[in-house]
Amino acid sequence: MRFDELTQLTGVSGYESTVREKIAADVRGFADELTVDAIGNLIAFRKGSGTAKRRVMLAAHMDEIGFQVIKVLEDGLLMIKTLGHSFLHVAYGSRIRFRNGTTGVVSSRVPAEKLGKDFTDLFVDIGANSKEEALKHVDVGDVACYVGDFTPLVGRTVVSKAVDDRVGCYMMMETMKRWPKPYHDVYYVFSVQEEVGCRGAKVAASTIRPDIGIAVDVTPHHDRPGDLEGSNRQGKGIAVKISDTSVICDEGLCAHLFDLCRRDGIPFQKEVLYVGGCDASAMNLSWEGVRVGAVSVVTRYTHGPGCLVDLDDVEAGIRLLGALAGEEIRL
Ligand code: CO
Ligand code: ZN
Repeated sequence: MRFDELTQLTGVSGYESTVREKIAADVRGFADELTVDAIGNLIAFRKGSGTAKRRVMLAAHMDEIGFQVIKVLEDGLLMIKTLGHSFLHVAYGSRIRFRNGTTGVVSSRVPAEKLGKDFTDLFVDIGANSKEEALKHVDVGDVACYVGDFTPLVGRTVVSKAVDDRVGCYMMMETMKRWPKPYHDVYYVFSVQEEVGCRGAKVAASTIRPDIGIAVDVTPHHDRPGDLEGSNRQGKGIAVKISDTSVICDEGLCAHLFDLCRRDGIPFQKEVLYVGGCDASAMNLSWEGVRVGAVSVVTRYTHGPGCLVDLDDVEAGIRLLGALAGEEIRL
């Protein structure tokens, strides 16, 4: 399955079934076992052949930022809440699409310059002029994701909705296909509900009981005006996470990942996040504690309809995952 196809599927947190079915169909031939647990994680297991193999869990989340209808108003407008962390100023003026194809524009009940952080200040206009008409297309509880097509930009950069974290799903799928005979027992976990608190990975880690956990996700850029402080630069290689607000990665595992990059000539950068989290935190605190790391792709404007990512960084990440799965890990 291609990366662009993955980004255009709808899979708001808690409602990932479409993404899960497509990924499952695509990787079936590359897994020894394919299971779906009760919360909705897709777990693809590949048995390793190494003499000192470990249980390695890789986790990329299928869910994306989205919205859920809380009320349908008399005039046909919809009130929404977010599923996952959205910025009001990003949502305002954007298009969102429901799973039945109904599309709406996000606008505001107050003058735009007075918008705060409360999503009940916004409304969604699907073109209906009465509650009765609106209810023929949407209802309370329906979910929608951003509309944001996949478009190549200058150089190796592309833009799309849901790069967070379909790019991680894509990287794991490619790793499974390109390195079908891993050294370790590898559990490729396509997790659910990361954007609402790493809920899926928490469940998967408690089932799998991995020795090592690696989140495969995006990380925000720090190379444009107005960004938070940090060293992340898009197009400068795959980021190996050292810490974020939710997790401090295992020092030995970080050193191992740096070594693999240096040895194989994989462009990489060291990631320290001032604000942010990922599935590694859930794996870290599971079972009796798990050594974790994270492989991240630097993205710009991440939780919106137009997220930028450099395809060379993505390729570097796939090579790093292949190297990780393919040989002994000494910690
Ligand atoms: Co995210
Ligand atoms: Zn993510």
